[in-house]
Amino acid sequence: MADIAILGFGTVGGGVTEVIERAQGCVPGSSGCGGPRVKYILDIRDFPGSPWADRIVRDINVILEDPDVKVVCETMGGKEPAFSFTKAALERGKSVCTSNKELVDAFGPELTQVAKAHGCSYLFEASVGGGIPLLRTLRDSCRHEDITSVVGILNGTCNYILTKMDREGMDFADALRQAQENGFAERNPDADVKGPDTARKLAILASLISGRRVRYEQVPCQGITEVSVADLKAAKARGRAIKLLGICQRDPRTGDLSVMTAPCLVPADNPLYGVNDVFNGVLVHGGCVDDLMFYGRGAGRMPTASAVVADVLECLKNAGHTVENGLPEPDNTITPVPFTSGLPGGIELL
Ligand SMILES: NC(=O)c1ccc[n+]([C@@H]2O[C@H](COP(=O)([O-])OP(=O)(O)OC[C@H]3O[C@@H](n4cnc5c(N)ncnc54)[C@H](OP(=O)(O)O)[C@@H]3O)[C@@H](O)[C@H]2O)c1
Repeated sequence: MADIAILGFGTVGGGVTEVIERAQGCVPGSSGCGGPRVKYILDIRDFPGSPWADRIVRDINVILEDPDVKVVCETMGGKEPAFSFTKAALERGKSVCTSNKELVDAFGPELTQVAKAHGCSYLFEASVGGGIPLLRTLRDSCRHEDITSVVGILNGTCNYILTKMDREGMDFADALRQAQENGFAERNPDADVKGPDTARKLAILASLISGRRVRYEQVPCQGITEVSVADLKAAKARGRAIKLLGICQRDPRTGDLSVMTAPCLVPADNPLYGVNDVFNGVLVHGGCVDDLMFYGRGAGRMPTASAVVADVLECLKNAGHTVENGLPEPDNTITPVPFTSGLPGGIELL
């Protein structure tokens, strides 16, 4: 067995313990390492009565100073102390697997350099598209592809709200309230409904497909707060659905990159048209493979934790090596250019 630690015993971190328990029977063959065992869980709260109560620690140094801990799952969220804890773990040769898109967007390339310098890995499959095995597919199976566009429904909360408004004629405020009651939206929903969550995920995707660093602040960003039931009805009359999309388009000739997050009209023959409720969908276009469509749960305890655990297994399988995560060097930046030749897949701006 290989010892791991979890930082943050919340929705995703709690899910990681469950996924590991469920996977015990099938892991050894695939990981070649005997499977992971949760040795420590760092949190600021107590969890009396939890079957994991005896693993809870308050001091990160307990984890950092234990040489048996090979992989750390960072599921705390936010920039600090997540950044400092991640960097310190990597500096001790412990691989880090994260669901924290904010940290990957802000410091992913720097943390990747630290990982490379210390022979360990920094992986972040769960940070984009939750449970969908998207980033690994892009960096492995599509390594040789000239990817010219990625268009994604990347925020399940917004997709749920738009689906409710469309199907039940509910206005935005009521649909948001229902999303909150059902646990699909945060009490402060701004990061979802105003677009930053989608923009952060798009910035990560844009960096991966271009090999150049794109930051969230460079993504023009509009959310769904202004979308009305009348807009949805008018779109339907034209055979279109309204979706909040993250769009990245790359000119294979010049290398120019265009990015945006905005509510868009999606035609019925585009596979993203049928992606509803809390589901995510990502349409990728490659020069050889043509269209690829990814569909699944972009958030939630078990799907997101499943992606974190997939990264843990990859780190264990590659112990002593750095798994290439596809992020560019920190200074390898690009300035995105406006979309000039229309949007991919027959998509139009609302
Ligand atoms: N939830 C999802 O479906 C989902 C999907 C994809 C990605 N993500 C990302 O995954 C990350 C975690 O999300 P989550 O939903 O699991 O959040 P969460 O439920 O709030 O869990 C975070 C946990 O970390 C703990 N924590 C915060 N600061 C800490 C510190 N300094 N030391 C130790 N523990 C600390 C929190 O304790 P307190 O509660 O006491 O603050 C909480 O138990 C975020 O970056 C999020 O964007 C989440």
